Amino acid sequence: MTGTPTRASLEAFFTTKTDRALLDRFDPRQAPAHVAVIMDGNGRWAAKRALPRLFGHRAGAKAVRESIAACLELGVRYLTIYSFSSENWRRSADEVDGLMSLFIEVLEAEMENLMDKRVRVLLIGSEAGVPEATLTAFRRAEEKTAGNDRLTLVVALNYGGRLEITEAVRLIARDVAAGEQDPDAITEETLAAHLYTHAIPDPDLVIRTSGEMRVSNFLLWQIAYSELWVTSTLWPDFKRGDMLKALVDYQGRTRRFGGRS
Ligand code: IPE
Ligand code: IPE
Ligand code: MG
Repeated sequence: MTGTPTRASLEAFFTTKTDRALLDRFDPRQAPAHVAVIMDGNGRWAAKRALPRLFGHRAGAKAVRESIAACLELGVRYLTIYSFSSENWRRSADEVDGLMSLFIEVLEAEMENLMDKRVRVLLIGSEAGVPEATLTAFRRAEEKTAGNDRLTLVVALNYGGRLEITEAVRLIARDVAAGEQDPDAITEETLAAHLYTHAIPDPDLVIRTSGEMRVSNFLLWQIAYSELWVTSTLWPDFKRGDMLKALVDYQGRTRRFGGRS
């Protein structure tokens, strides 16, 4: 299925009473094209259960699967997930190594499902410092899913907004030095074209779980006019109904982009 979801397909997916009530307020023709998620709270989820942090990340991977399914049903075309920030290297080696291995494991386990659902995987972020095996797993997934057209899953790994803008400036400066770019002709479009996200529309909606009211260096350039939605729900507890609720709230917003309506 591509295009606008039908009421029947949505009802088959959203079955609880609460979700059905939300469905009544959801307009399938107005789904945001791009939803970006700061998946926060895995550690707190694990701590509440007296489990090691990595158990929280494993539970978080299940929540990613659920969100992909929800976005497919709701007609979202791009889902960006903040999976590891350029600042997350500050965590313990155990946690970092565990996450880098978990990415490989989850990609392998999910490949059949991604192909079946026609989900394309795209990696954004800096390659510097990311283990070769993790990069290879993502490169393989990108190649394998390149022809999939229902949903693009953008995985932000070793991603930092400031780092991304800095790298873009460096590339543009090189073009200037080589005489290939007139400094006076540099526009917002020039900068956007040098970001990791050059082929991806800006997010319409940014979701952050577990209650923190900050953007933590996520897509700084791209979220200039995105709508923000924060929930206290911890990422591993984030269900299809939470995604639906975020989209319904989004549809109730008036986006002005600096103008007056
Ligand atoms: C988000 O959960 C996942 C990553 C940053 C990789 P956290 O690990 O930040 O969870 P909390 O914030 O400690 O609860
Ligand atoms: C943001 O969460 C990064 C990811 C979700 C990957 P953090 O847990 O790293 O953010 P802070 O430290 O609370 O700002
Ligand atoms: Mg956190």
